[in-house]
Amino acid sequence: MLETLAHTARAARPSMAQCEAEPLARMEDYEEFLAGINNFRTHKWNSDRWVTFRLRFGIYAQKQDGMHMARVKAPGGRLRVEWLRAVAKANREHCGADVHITTRQGLQFYFVALDSLPKLFKELYGAGLTSREASGNTFRNVTACPLAGICPRERVDAGAVAQRLAVTWLRHPLVQHMPRKVKISISGCELDCGATSIDDLGLIATVKDGRPGFRVVAGGGLGSVPRSAVELLEFVAEEELSAVQEAVAHLHHRYSNRSRKMASRLKFLVKRFGEEEFVKLFLDEFEHARRMPQRPWPALAWRTPADDRFPPPQRGRIEQHDGKVAVVIRPPLGMLSSDRLEALADIAEQTGASEFRLTREQNIIAVGIPRQNADRFMKGVRALGLDMGERPHGLGDIVACPGVSTCPIGINNSHALAEELLAAGAAFAGFPETRIRISGCHNSCGQHHIGDIGLHGVAKKIGGKNAPHYQFHLGGEVDTPGAIAMEGPAVPARLIKEALKILLSAYAETRNKEESVRRWAKRIGAAGIEKLLAPVTEGGYDVSDPLLWLDVGSDKPFFPPISAVGECAAAAVVGEYLSDLSLVGRIDLQRSLAIGDREEAVEAGRRSLFATGQRLLSVLGVDTEDFDDSRLILEVRSQFSGEKALMAALETALKAKVAAAGGGDMEAFVRALDDWAAAADIIIEASLAPSSAMGANI
Ligand code: HEM
Ligand code: SF4
Ligand code: SF4
Repeated sequence: MLETLAHTARAARPSMAQCEAEPLARMEDYEEFLAGINNFRTHKWNSDRWVTFRLRFGIYAQKQDGMHMARVKAPGGRLRVEWLRAVAKANREHCGADVHITTRQGLQFYFVALDSLPKLFKELYGAGLTSREASGNTFRNVTACPLAGICPRERVDAGAVAQRLAVTWLRHPLVQHMPRKVKISISGCELDCGATSIDDLGLIATVKDGRPGFRVVAGGGLGSVPRSAVELLEFVAEEELSAVQEAVAHLHHRYSNRSRKMASRLKFLVKRFGEEEFVKLFLDEFEHARRMPQRPWPALAWRTPADDRFPPPQRGRIEQHDGKVAVVIRPPLGMLSSDRLEALADIAEQTGASEFRLTREQNIIAVGIPRQNADRFMKGVRALGLDMGERPHGLGDIVACPGVSTCPIGINNSHALAEELLAAGAAFAGFPETRIRISGCHNSCGQHHIGDIGLHGVAKKIGGKNAPHYQFHLGGEVDTPGAIAMEGPAVPARLIKEALKILLSAYAETRNKEESVRRWAKRIGAAGIEKLLAPVTEGGYDVSDPLLWLDVGSDKPFFPPISAVGECAAAAVVGEYLSDLSLVGRIDLQRSLAIGDREEAVEAGRRSLFATGQRLLSVLGVDTEDFDDSRLILEVRSQFSGEKALMAALETALKAKVAAAGGGDMEAFVRALDDWAAAADIIIEASLAPSSAMGANI
């Protein structure tokens, strides 16, 4: 048994030293998923273990019992035309709602029963799509600015960079169970439409001293504590991006607080250490990572950008830099039925469009349409009843998360509110177009902090009884660093339409020429906004209206959830990250040997040995945070003295380490480390075997 496990560990270990890029989708991932779900279905795994596992495969529990939401990641939002057909078919056969374009350029499938998950994934993975690391504490979907690859302003195709970086660390143990998720975004030029300031790691294409490369920012995020990213590097060459990712992952592992998941995004490290120290800690990790061998990096194609001041607006027809045409399609709230997806694929094929692009605005852009076919393409889209934003109006571009329509931790039904607003579009026809972004709670899945007008669901008492409200946010901008919206008052959900009418008409009437919502809101100030909204805030509205206590789209009494902590913040249950770090140590041992650094190789091996010991003790609940090597070894020996095979593997590994440090056999050290990890696995698996059937409750 030990031999087999050790052998598997060796065979499964990716050798980063000479690795070619990973493919995005792999049938082996599907098989890994199948094995996991079977472990759960046969009660080999309890539900905690299943939750941690399925999140890494992009699956969340829905509010509705037994139903799941499954997320597919599309780096840079890029979708091949034929993928639309695969998505349509899989959705029609295995899911219960329309497909949803997410605010991070992915796709979501809703109402998937447990038994349908493998069928859904078999089709999607088979077609070349993946859900791997689409959630969980991983490198999430890597996003790019919306017009990447076609924008006249771009220096480089940010989508191509996103695709490259999405597979650079995919499946690597370093990023399977980080303290918290890491969101990465890329902009093709300094205008930064990729919104790098709100992600954990952002890369902005630029030029320094005539050399193309990237400015690197990190530590941004939204949620209840929004923060703009800080600059890590003024400039880095393209071939070092993989080392930047690696350094960020190490920084996260080393310092982020695993026990308080709601305070463990990278942004909390900026808060804890201060900007200067945060940058310094990153640089320490970066110095280490950049010495290590990385995957091969074929040079990117850089170009000289057009000298436009603004990016093309995201609506209707867009002239690409290569003479072809792109068309922005705005499906209502980013929802697309299987029929519409197939129809879009048909039109794309008939007119020669090369691919589709999902955007943060929950839109889909068809790109690469030969100029002479553009009208035909648009006619086809119009015939489907889909909007292309050709006639801008006040509520032309609404973004919304699903809210409590499916989300178990939401407060309000943001989706229903967005539908109500869309239906009222005609009443807003004369107003300038604004970007409205709605989240059902403070978690910001609708990214309300970066809308012209943002709304997030809160519960607030009226007459001593909870009533659904939305908190206003005004003047957020994606492309201006630090431009997180300012907070406005909270307004009852049922009065939001009225509130928007008041705000938008005031904006239309009193804004200076071309003044953005941000500048307008700043000019009139928080007090001015409050005054405008007085009729729909406390003291202004009619408290005899019973609708105040009902959410939009609901006639049932309103109850806010007890907790708004998402399951993607779920803690790892079996010290997975320690077994990952043990494997990372063994991989880094090889990488160090590849650059001839024996000393570093021994040190990496030591880290592996240590992490395995920590994992064993973590299962017993022993806190090893302050342990040094000798304390850890003593503790393992005393706790596991009865486990003969384990003890033998430990002693062999310790001896092999001493020998390796003294110039002895490195291969023997590697084998001993593998055996030590495999022996620990056996003990841990045995300790986790459920004593009773549990866990079939999801
Ligand atoms: C079952 C459904 C969902 C649950 C339980 C959920 C939960 C959460 C939670 C707890 C956070 C905050 C994370 C943090 O602060 O670290 C979050 C953030 C986020 N979610 Fe979701 N979410 C769900 C669906 C969605 C959907 C449908 C979208 C896109 C339409 C989405 C997009 C996002 C984005 C963009 C953020 C990032 C905000 C930031 O940068 O901090 N989520 N989600
Ligand atoms: S202008 Fe915006 S969309 Fe165009 S390359 Fe620059 S960041 Fe990307
Ligand atoms: S913002 Fe809140 S309600 Fe909306 S999907 Fe995220 S967690 Fe759910």
